[in-house]
Amino acid sequence: MDNKQKTVLIIGAGKEAVTGITQAKEMGYTVYVSDGDLNAPGIAYADGFIQASVYDPQETRQAILGHDCRDKIDGVLAIACDAPVTVSTVAKALNLDSHSVETATVATHKLLMKQAFHKAGIPTPWFRAVESIGHLRHLIQKEQKVLVLKPVDSRGSRGVLRLLPDISHEEITWAYELSVSYSGAKQLIVEHWMDGPQLSTESVIWDEESQLVAVADRNYDQLENHAPFIMENGGNTPSVHSPQIDLDLNEIIAAASKAIGLQRGTVKGDVVIGPEGPVVIEIAARLSGGYFCTHTIPKVYGVNLIKAALEICTGQKPDFAALKPQIRCVQGNRHLFLKEGVIKSVQVSSELVDHSDVAIFKLNIKSGDKIEKATDHTQRHGVVMTFCETRKKAVELAERCIDSVDIVYG
Ligand SMILES: Nc1ncnc2c1ncn2[C@@H]1O[C@H](COP(=O)(O)OP(=O)(O)O)[C@@H](O)[C@H]1O
Ligand SMILES: [Mg+2]
Repeated sequence: MDNKQKTVLIIGAGKEAVTGITQAKEMGYTVYVSDGDLNAPGIAYADGFIQASVYDPQETRQAILGHDCRDKIDGVLAIACDAPVTVSTVAKALNLDSHSVETATVATHKLLMKQAFHKAGIPTPWFRAVESIGHLRHLIQKEQKVLVLKPVDSRGSRGVLRLLPDISHEEITWAYELSVSYSGAKQLIVEHWMDGPQLSTESVIWDEESQLVAVADRNYDQLENHAPFIMENGGNTPSVHSPQIDLDLNEIIAAASKAIGLQRGTVKGDVVIGPEGPVVIEIAARLSGGYFCTHTIPKVYGVNLIKAALEICTGQKPDFAALKPQIRCVQGNRHLFLKEGVIKSVQVSSELVDHSDVAIFKLNIKSGDKIEKATDHTQRHGVVMTFCETRKKAVELAERCIDSVDIVYG
C-alpha cells in the first residue's frame, strides 16, 4: 500500500501542527485530526475532524470508535502535542503500532520516568518525590543546593520552579502551592539543578537502531529575569557542542528510551551537559514543538522527520540513511517576553517580517491585551525563527526582529 491509500490520525490540531498536517497531505496521506477545540487551526487543513480533548485518552478513544473513520486509520501520531497516552490508547483500540500505554504513561510522569532512568543507570539529576510542604522544607534544608520543583505530570515548563537554598518559609509555601496547582495527580518532585549547557535533542528509534537527528542549544540567559520560573528565551540549531557530543547523546537517548520501554518512535530529549557528560532531564515520546520538527530540522539538517514519524506510526521502518543530519544552515530562535501592562499599540518592522531569512515572526498579542508576567513557555508573547549561513547572522537577525517589536503601553 503506498501513502495515497493510507490514512493517519493526528492527535492535536494546534497551530504548531499545521505544517505537519499539510506535509502529511503532500505525501499522499489522508489526514484526520482530533482536538477538543472546534476552532483549532489545523482542522481546516485536514480531511476530517473528530472533536475530543487531546489530554483525555478515553474521550478520544470513544470518539474515534464511534466515528466512521475508525476502520480506515493506519496510524496515529501527535505533532507538537504532548499526548502520547492518547496516541497509545487510540492505537491500541484500533490495533495499530504504537508505544504501549504503560510506556506512554511513564513518558508523561516525571517520577516514574526518573525511577526508570535510575534503575537503568541513565545519568539524571538526584530527585525525590515531594510528599507535602513540610517534606519540601525538609529536603531544601537537608540538600542545601539549588533545586528544581516540578509537577510530575505537566508540560511546557508549567509549574517548574528553581529554588535557591536560602528560600524563605513563605516562598516555599508559595512554590509548593503554585507547582501543585499544575499537577493533575497533585504530585511533585524535586531535583538538584544541573549547571551546564542546556540542549534539546530529537532522535528516531527503531528497535536497536537509533539516529540522533538534531541537537539545539537552549538559551537561558534571561533565567534571572524570569526567576523562579524557568523559561528559555530561544536557542540555536545546530548546537555549538555538536557534532563532538553527538555519539554520547545518541547513546544516552537510546538508553533512556529503552529504560522506559520505548521501542519505536521519535524521541525529544532535554539534556544538560554536566561535568561528567550529558545528563538526561527528561525524554518525551513524541515529536517536538516550537516548529522544531516541522521547520528547523528540515531546513538545518535536510531531514524529513515528519515523514519518518508517519512511516513509524503506520508500521514501516524509516530510511535511516535519510535521517543522517547534513548541516545546511543555522537556525536562530528567540522568544518575546513582555513586561506587564495594557497594550495600546503594537508594530513590527514589515521589512523584517518579509526578510527572506526570517521564517517565522509571530506575535501572540494585539492592541488592548492585558499583559501578565509570563510564568511558562506557553505564555511567550512572540516567536522569531531565522535561518542564516552563520550562527552570528542567525542570532543577530532574530534579536533584531525581537528588538523591532514596538509596543506602546496604555
Ligand atoms: N534538574 C534540572 N537541572 C537543570 N535544568 C532543569 C532541571 N529540571 C528542569 N530543568 C530545565 O527546565 C526545563 C523544564 O523542565 P522539564 O522537567 O523539562 O519540564 P516540562 O515538562 O515542563 O518540559 C527543562 O527543559 C530544563 O531546561
Ligand atoms: Mg521538558
